[in-house]
Amino acid sequence: MGKLGLGVAVGCAVASCAIAAVVVGRRVRSRKQWWKVVTAVDEFEEAASTPVGRLRQVVDAMAVEMHAGLASEGGSKLKMLLTFVDNLPDGSENGIYYALHVGGTNFRILRIQLGGQRSILGHDVERKPIPQHLMTSTSEEFFDFIALSLKDFVERKGDNLQFSQVRGKDLGFTFSFPVKQTSVSSGTLIKWTKGFAIEDMVEKDVVECLQKALSRRGLDMNVAALVNDSVGTLAVGHFLDKDTVAAVVIGTGTNACYLERADAVIKCQGLLTTSGGMVINMEWGNFWSSHLPRTSYDIDLDAESQNPNDQGFEKMISGMYLGDIVRRVIRRMSLESGIFGPLSSKLSKRFVLSTPLMAAMHEDDSPDLSEVAKILEETLDIRDIPLKVRKIVVKVCDVVTRRAARLAAAGIVGILKKIGRDGTGGIAGGRIKGIKSGKMRRTVVAVEGGLYTSYTIFREYLNEAVAEILGEDIAPYVILKVMEDGSGIGAAMLAASNSARSVDTVQVL
Ligand code: BGC
Repeated sequence: MGKLGLGVAVGCAVASCAIAAVVVGRRVRSRKQWWKVVTAVDEFEEAASTPVGRLRQVVDAMAVEMHAGLASEGGSKLKMLLTFVDNLPDGSENGIYYALHVGGTNFRILRIQLGGQRSILGHDVERKPIPQHLMTSTSEEFFDFIALSLKDFVERKGDNLQFSQVRGKDLGFTFSFPVKQTSVSSGTLIKWTKGFAIEDMVEKDVVECLQKALSRRGLDMNVAALVNDSVGTLAVGHFLDKDTVAAVVIGTGTNACYLERADAVIKCQGLLTTSGGMVINMEWGNFWSSHLPRTSYDIDLDAESQNPNDQGFEKMISGMYLGDIVRRVIRRMSLESGIFGPLSSKLSKRFVLSTPLMAAMHEDDSPDLSEVAKILEETLDIRDIPLKVRKIVVKVCDVVTRRAARLAAAGIVGILKKIGRDGTGGIAGGRIKGIKSGKMRRTVVAVEGGLYTSYTIFREYLNEAVAEILGEDIAPYVILKVMEDGSGIGAAMLAASNSARSVDTVQVL
């Protein structure tokens, strides 16, 4: 071989070595990046884990906080609000009633016809999105919009409210925010949640605001019941099944209420009710315990929210936030590795990934996860990512949803524990092994809200966790029942039972 030939051969060898080195280098780098991502997901999963032991600690903490919130005003982050609902509908209610439901992304107007004997003869619902700008406007603008929508609806239904004997005049008003009630049909707003911020309404009587707007629109209707959505759900649950003792809402926000003994409401010593009971609106969205598995993503989400240090439980569970937790995890993975391509600016936009989109990715059962690819591209500007990366995204959705569902399950068992329906000896007792089934009573919990009613994996995780915490002897006695539109229908039912009654059944001495 001549000198030239040798030179070419050496050159080729050097070049191929260099190419090989580049290829190997890239592979090593991409493997490293991949491991970074896998490690980040593993760490997130570990931090968000909810083994049954931890869930039982949350159960106990929930029951303890419920006690504290009933013992004194401000005794707990759980407000444990009086609702002045001491009698739940029993099925005998009759007539046509309207209800309004304000509380989340949509607002609803309902007209229901009750026929006695636990029957609902007719049920019309209209759903309208609340225009974004009204959520931060003035109370007058907000209630004018609601009153006008109600007026249109009533006129279309053709009921003549001019006649004083028409029951349809009595309106049930579901207002799904923390309210300090002063009677069953009045109460002041404590604070806003779920992205609403109409400042001039805080501490104002919400019924008065609505009632004024109805008069401005010339609508002769009377708010006969002001109820939280969880209370409406409990009312309809009880109307349909008398063993219903508690209700939970898991939608844009989350909350629970239950039937408590009036004498257990220690903070209100002079509380007298004809039934001896009182529905308590727990406002459990604000529950907090050191046993909750909080991650750095939750801390950031809270710090950047409209209400830092507030609604901690809600921020781990409800529809307003789950999609945003997933977005934050994807953003961190994208920052730390190149597996999502160049960092998309959309990943920094809060709430750009809504929970329904997150659920759609989670429930994508196509072999190539085409729905995941579509949502990542259309919502987050993330394109052409390989299948294994799409699988990672599904995994993140799963971790976030599973934690949310299992924590909600622990909350439910916490309520059952407080009222002695979890098969243990109540709040002071430990778990009793092999409890005699004869001692357990059938116990129904009504559940409303899109996360539970429309997100199958969420519902399955929640049901599974309730059974796991209660154990196989007790679980068969506890039934979770879906109540579609329960909160609105229940408010109309409470309007019915309150307008039928002429005297107050609750007194605070
Ligand atoms: C509110 C509750 C409401 C729940 C579900 C929470 O943000 O504080 O009053 O019941 O959302 O709508």
